[in-house]
Amino acid sequence: MSQAYLDAQMRSQDDREAYWLDAAQAIEWQVPPVRAWSEGEGWFAGGLMNTCHNAVDRHVAAGRGDDLALIYESPVTDTHLTFSFAELQDAVARTAGMIADQGVGKGDRVILYMPMVPQAVIAMLACARIGAIHSVVFGGFAAPELAKRIDDATPTLLMTASCGIEGSKVIPYKPLVDKALQMAIHRIERVILLQRPQAIAPMQEGRDLDWADTLAEAQPVDCVPVEATHPLYILYTSGTTGTPKGVVRQNGGHAVAIAWSMAHIYGIRPGEVFWAASDVGWVVGHSYIAYGPLLAGATTLLFEGKPVGTPDAGTFWRTIVRNNVRIFFTAPTAIRAVRKEDPEGDYIRQIGTGNLRALFLAGERADPDTIHWAEAQLNLPVIDHWWQTELGWPALATCFGLGDTRRKAGSAGFPVPGYGFRVVDDGGVDVAPGETGNVVMTLPLPPGCYAGLWNNEAGFAKAFAGFPGHYETGDAGHVDADGFVNIMGRTDDIINVAGHRLSTGQMEQIVACHPLVSECAVIGVDDALKGMVPMAFVVARTGEWDAAALGAEIIKAVRDELGPVAALKDVHIVGALPKTRSGKILRAALRQVAAGETIAMPATIESPAALEAIMEIFAKVE
Ligand code: COA
Ligand code: AMP
Repeated sequence: MSQAYLDAQMRSQDDREAYWLDAAQAIEWQVPPVRAWSEGEGWFAGGLMNTCHNAVDRHVAAGRGDDLALIYESPVTDTHLTFSFAELQDAVARTAGMIADQGVGKGDRVILYMPMVPQAVIAMLACARIGAIHSVVFGGFAAPELAKRIDDATPTLLMTASCGIEGSKVIPYKPLVDKALQMAIHRIERVILLQRPQAIAPMQEGRDLDWADTLAEAQPVDCVPVEATHPLYILYTSGTTGTPKGVVRQNGGHAVAIAWSMAHIYGIRPGEVFWAASDVGWVVGHSYIAYGPLLAGATTLLFEGKPVGTPDAGTFWRTIVRNNVRIFFTAPTAIRAVRKEDPEGDYIRQIGTGNLRALFLAGERADPDTIHWAEAQLNLPVIDHWWQTELGWPALATCFGLGDTRRKAGSAGFPVPGYGFRVVDDGGVDVAPGETGNVVMTLPLPPGCYAGLWNNEAGFAKAFAGFPGHYETGDAGHVDADGFVNIMGRTDDIINVAGHRLSTGQMEQIVACHPLVSECAVIGVDDALKGMVPMAFVVARTGEWDAAALGAEIIKAVRDELGPVAALKDVHIVGALPKTRSGKILRAALRQVAAGETIAMPATIESPAALEAIMEIFAKVE
């Protein structure tokens, strides 16, 4: 354990105020905060700042205008583009002018439904510049999901592109956006559309504006100082119901925490290149593509491609070497995809990893086998670290930037300074080392963590109600004898499919709406590539139906309602669902059977025959 980690850990606990006020000095404030945490007000209340100024303008003002701010690598369009800080400032200031021209002001919401193009990051920064609140919606979500977010965020403006490019597929976005706007109750007067040459989309007269034409007319605007507690963004994430939760992130705490993490977790210095191979639609994309590297005065890399097939399993290493990437961050599933195509690491040996210092993994549990493979191939530290959309930045990690090197495959590391961890039983009592329990955190959560759920006070309160005085993460884990924390899975119905967070409860709601479905259960089952995939068990209504056709209709319904990213491919039509005597579906037993485990008949089961029939299905599959 490094002394720097120990010191940071102790100071952040024993002298929280001084610790975070010191950390806040990494940020330029129009009015510096005099308090770090104020109960009832939040982090750095009283401070005035602007996130875009800190990410872009301040570096230009410091004479670093010619330094590299953003690299756009797009193997799918064969494009390599770079922006210096001065070029980024110009693009962001003009885009902010274009957004303001549409009547968007401080506190107004702007939905971004964008592929991985520079304009996505530029639009996020442009919103921050004028104090508007962006809400990025991941492109893999279908129209009804976009409509739900429109109705919840009630935006003034929607910005989108004509298409996304997923591997070799061009995915038209505009029909989906048009459909979502029709479905939504909230009316949006303006849509700004980025036409991409791969799919030119028709414009709706009077509503849609062409991005390039409108930008050409716009004047640059300056940063608007906002209160530290003013929302920077809303990011919707899966909760346990069909309604997504709009996580609200505030400007001041976010900037301080993210800048801290760049230096102390990732060990990135100004001028270095940091690459998070995620998507701007997820929290990783917010924290470590759009904001983190730029807040740290480093260079961010925006990658429009897949780990494999764009063009091959060497694309990660080629991008790293070509752009002098120092720290690389991706999801374990991406490494598993690379391994599948290049098991012997031939590409890695041919291409090398240049000046890369470490690979960070998050988004789902990194299985030890994947870690061992990656470490053996890369000959570099491979660091699993854990966090969630709600938190906004890592809560468990090996703080590489603080000189910590301790790692154990299967563990996500140690509490990051600022976070107070406990693993407790259902009664809130600490469990013994090695015993699995609920992962909870003491309050207040450190700067940068969510400050509320948009329009959903009750939902926010729920996360703090289960274990009074604590935030309930929804994850289960244990601490081993050496203090390593292992996160083993969720305690609710959230699953991670290829690093994408989804709710099986939400899928169940969609499946249950099919007119031929009497009842259903959707569970997550282990998958060698995606970590987990959903599987549906369906009891059909009495009458005429064809199993194959019904399965296909259910898969289509989930795709159409939730989106392709749900990846539901497996539907089993069964005679009955195994239930307890009180009528609860035995999901744990279903999961075990689907995983090929031999299980004892649960003592509480009402209908053993239902479970036996499902066991038989899987015995046959094997
Ligand atoms: N826009 C539109 N559609 C999208 C999309 C987007 N932004 N992202 C994914 N999709 C679609 C895909 O095209 C695919 O559709 P299909 O069923 O028609 O083929 C479906 O959603 C599932 O996509 P994905 O989960 O990406 O699976 P895949 O089989 O195409 O690729 C991996 C598998 C492992 C290569 C890929 O999931 C991957 O790169 N994962 C890393 C994820 C990641 O970085 N997560 C962020 C957390 S850090
Ligand atoms: P998201 O909000 O999309 O970032 O998903 C957060 C959830 O993903 C967490 O609550 C965990 O269940 C899971 N997760 C993320 N990172 C890890 C990790 N390193 N190890 C285990 N689970 C993880």
